[in-house]
Amino acid sequence: MQLSFPVSETPDDATTEKGRRLFAGQTDFLKGVVAMSGLPPADRTEVCFAGRSNVGKSTLINALTGRKGLARASNTPGRTQEINYFTLSDSHYLVDLPGYGYANAPLPVVEKWQKLLKSYLAGRQTLRRAFVLVDARHGIKQVDEEIMSLLDSAAVTFQCVLTKTDKVKPRDLEKTLSQIRERLAPHPAAFPELILTSSEKGDGIATLRATIATLE
Ligand code: GTP
Ligand code: MG
Repeated sequence: MQLSFPVSETPDDATTEKGRRLFAGQTDFLKGVVAMSGLPPADRTEVCFAGRSNVGKSTLINALTGRKGLARASNTPGRTQEINYFTLSDSHYLVDLPGYGYANAPLPVVEKWQKLLKSYLAGRQTLRRAFVLVDARHGIKQVDEEIMSLLDSAAVTFQCVLTKTDKVKPRDLEKTLSQIRERLAPHPAAFPELILTSSEKGDGIATLRATIATLE
């Protein structure tokens, strides 16, 4: 029997090379957006990185681009407070989103980001795929479910990317994977493959690059 939501296989050489090349191109910070009116022209293939605060969104963007200081990563949850746009070659935007599920900032501030985050996820026409990052130690939480349901309603395909796999033992990873498979099953917008990553060790980075490179 075919397992639902299998882990993505390593792409073939040609696709891996396509991903490597795309990410070997010029990457730059374009702008930080604080309102929908500030979004750049919708003229490129766009992918975004969503997930709970501290899950590793900014760190993953740095690992993908091979530029440590490109996206600001930090131990302090809630570090990314704007929608940060990065240009990748002249064909793609990579979008680093503020984390959700972080309660320790002043409430009006949190509400403002969350509103912007939701408007963006539901209303950005050129958004080709949302990568929803999930900590390999913790699995999918209620706040992730809310975002996934929003993406279902907006018909934006989302793909689950596990982060920090270097921090879990293989047995615990298997447990997280079953929990994730169970939780993803009811979501029509969920892309049916999972990507396992460690920004620390570089695992899964080539696969994610190749995945992004095949989106047009
Ligand atoms: P917000 O911007 O606050 O929403 O957080 P974020 O999702 O951008 O997380 P960020 O990239 O800032 O990473 C949070 C912490 O997790 C940092 O201390 C990173 O070094 C650590 N981290 C991220 N990815 C990995 C990983 O793959 N392995 C390990 N061991 N640590 C990681
Ligand atoms: Mg961040």
